[in-house]
Amino acid sequence: MSNFAKDSSAITVTNLIKTVVTQEGELTILKGINMDVKQGDSVAILGPSGSGKSTLLGLLAALDTPTSGEILLAGSALSGLNEEQKAALRKKKVSFIFQSFMLVDTLTALENVMLPAELAGVKDAKHKAQNMLERVGLSHRLTHLPKQLSGGEQQRVAIARAFICEPKVLFADEPTGNLDSVNGDKIADMLFALNQESDTTLVLVTHDLQLAKRCKRQFVMDSGQLTEAPNSQAHSANSPLLAEEVS
Ligand SMILES: Nc1ncnc2c1ncn2[C@@H]1O[C@H](COP(=O)(O)OP(=O)(O)O)[C@@H](O)[C@H]1O
Ligand SMILES: [Mg+2]
Repeated sequence: MSNFAKDSSAITVTNLIKTVVTQEGELTILKGINMDVKQGDSVAILGPSGSGKSTLLGLLAALDTPTSGEILLAGSALSGLNEEQKAALRKKKVSFIFQSFMLVDTLTALENVMLPAELAGVKDAKHKAQNMLERVGLSHRLTHLPKQLSGGEQQRVAIARAFICEPKVLFADEPTGNLDSVNGDKIADMLFALNQESDTTLVLVTHDLQLAKRCKRQFVMDSGQLTEAPNSQAHSANSPLLAEEVS
């Protein structure tokens, strides 16, 4: 149930700057980021370690506050929201997947997936969670604790959890970073299936060029500056930048 037109923006970033104070003085991590992501798009952010990718993702997901600049997320200007309003926006519109899965150790797979739905007051949270776990091929693992699951299975639980509240935008920080290539491919298949079916906007930070190439657009972060890769919009199969790095 979207009140956003197909070509409306999911995320608009204007001149975003993030400076932190360190023992060595001020460090500007993000140096004026601009980007505009349409609802339903899939976006990959590549770039070397330490270039600012996770910092950007945290800001976009309203988990952190910029030094200056503006972010419009699902129609809301983040600078105009207090912490409570940001939490409400995250709960309703945004999900996050981490490289390290971040499941609750003491909860079963089913309970982990139910959790955000229960927090959001969804009535049939259990039934929905069962359906989501079925979608990711884990019907036979409902009562397992995270430590009783493989890495790939844990990440599938994290995906089920991320999609249960039908987020407008899903942020994933190296979602396949801790998985072998077979499990990484499965996770990617699931992300894109859910992107297509639910029109969820995907923003993925990744070192995995195959995963990046499956996204509609590719950006590269370098020392706090973000640029869109050549041929990014043209579904990238022949992108010289990316093709070169894979071969
Ligand atoms: N709160 C912070 N205080 C000081 N330095 C930070 C802080 N957060 C990130 N950094 C530094 O900013 C740079 C970018 O970090 P990060 O966004 O995590 O990069 P990436 O995800 O691309 O590897 C790194 O050099 C990191 O050490
Ligand atoms: Mg990172």
